[in-house]
Amino acid sequence: MQLTSRYRFAASHRLTTDALSPEENARLYGKCNNPHGHGHDYVLDVTVEGPIDQAGQIVNRDALNALVANQVLARVDHRDLNSEVPELAGRVTTTENLAYAVERMLTARWTLPAKLVRVRIAETARNTFELKI
Ligand code: NI
Repeated sequence: MQLTSRYRFAASHRLTTDALSPEENARLYGKCNNPHGHGHDYVLDVTVEGPIDQAGQIVNRDALNALVANQVLARVDHRDLNSEVPELAGRVTTTENLAYAVERMLTARWTLPAKLVRVRIAETARNTFELKI
């Protein structure tokens, strides 16, 4: 049995890498390399899997919500992903890398009986990234 819980956060970012020149960054990332950055309303889906406990649940919802709020939302909501999130330091702030960062944030303090099996982040209505764990 799996449960997917949905969360939302807003954050800004700019796609850029020190490995490339300003011109190469602009060519590679296009408008996402805009020096002033831009924002997204991200949708985060966290999926857990496990047997049903005596309460008839996979996981206590409050415990899962608290974990996501403390470990992820407190770190990324209304933040600049390029400068305010240590877990992304030195990485291009693509949603691919953000999904791995979210996985690390969660597993660092994971004490729930259910297993974390997927982190999915929608960056826009068109693009959703899914990390199977
Ligand atoms: Ni963007």
